[in-house]
Amino acid sequence: MIRETDETLGDRAFVVLDANVPKRFAASLCDSLKSAGLEPTTAQIDPSERIKILSTVEDLLVQLTRARHDRTDPVIALGGGVVGDIAGFVAASYRRGVPVVQCPTTLLAMADASVGGKTGVNIQIPGDEGPVLRKNMVGAFHQPVLVAADVQTLVGLEPRILRCGLAECIKHALIAPATDPDLLDWTERLLAGDWTDDPASLIELVARNVAVKAGFVAGDVRETPASDGGGRALLNLGHTFAHAIEPIQRLSPDGDPAHAPLQHGEAVSLGLIAAVHCARHLDLCDDSLPSRVAHVLSAGGLPTTIPELPPADDLIRAMGDDKKVLAGRLRFVLPVRSGGALIVSDPPIAAIRAGIDALRGD
Ligand SMILES: NC(=O)c1ccc[n+]([C@@H]2O[C@H](COP(=O)([O-])OP(=O)(O)OC[C@H]3O[C@@H](n4cnc5c(N)ncnc54)[C@H](O)[C@@H]3O)[C@@H](O)[C@H]2O)c1
Repeated sequence: MIRETDETLGDRAFVVLDANVPKRFAASLCDSLKSAGLEPTTAQIDPSERIKILSTVEDLLVQLTRARHDRTDPVIALGGGVVGDIAGFVAASYRRGVPVVQCPTTLLAMADASVGGKTGVNIQIPGDEGPVLRKNMVGAFHQPVLVAADVQTLVGLEPRILRCGLAECIKHALIAPATDPDLLDWTERLLAGDWTDDPASLIELVARNVAVKAGFVAGDVRETPASDGGGRALLNLGHTFAHAIEPIQRLSPDGDPAHAPLQHGEAVSLGLIAAVHCARHLDLCDDSLPSRVAHVLSAGGLPTTIPELPPADDLIRAMGDDKKVLAGRLRFVLPVRSGGALIVSDPPIAAIRAGIDALRGD
């Protein structure tokens, strides 16, 4: 299949493996590369947001250079969204760009991260209490030549990690009424049953979410500021809040320090709650939306409140560092009554606070 996507591919491949993906999936990927005439060299990453940084990219670039890969050799990512984002950025940078293939192995990576060509890493800024992470501040748009997802790879995934993908799926359902009007109802029905052991449901979940994301990306491949009305920026629903919360290493979804830090999908779940409450404060959406969104996220086992959240002013300050800030203005994607979402620049602070305070759950 890989040869059909690009006839100019060389005869070697650089495979970036997620250390936690069962070995049999890596072995089967390498076997199928060999039968397609691509000799693999491999590198392994034990993924976390802390290693999703430039030094990891540099390390992989050194390995590619040492192994003398040329411009026609693809980089292949096998793993979750962290590995996909890093490997994609490595592919975008090595010799000014080589082909990348994404083989996502988490629900989040299948339904969202592997599609659309955003790659990149976090920046670490020295702070008084240790380095502070700024999410996805460096990167490139680099479209994969192929995305190959197999829901069988989800079988051994920790339930907590599997559920994280639902946050992005529920986000898609909230912004998709024009392209898939039934997606939110369908997702609610799915989560009411035993969805994790049903391959057919998982395939439909991934396929419908990929279609929604691809629809937004196709109309606005590089997220141009001019497309604020409805381009791919709407895929950031909940993310301005989420990116302020996610780097706070001591936060855990249930208050148990052993479960800290938050996973990306958990931060997105909380970000969606904050966004709907912010929208409600501005009377952009109906009264019923916040409880409906909380209900579907809870049905997916995702957090809707978070213990020990810092004061709202601290989080609003952190939002000022978000990469979605434009000309010094905070921008939020908020759901609207007519369906879908829109971008609101610099909403009143009281509305942002209403979003954050909804997460305290008191
Ligand atoms: N590029 C994009 O458009 C985009 C979109 C959404 C999210 N993201 C990024 O994706 C990242 C989150 O991705 P994620 O939720 O996949 O987290 P992740 O990559 O950290 O993976 C979660 C955990 O699951 C493990 N894992 C992966 N596949 C496995 C498997 N099949 N079996 C067992 N363990 C497995 C990983 O090693 C890791 O420990 C974030 O960094 C986020 O910023 C990117």
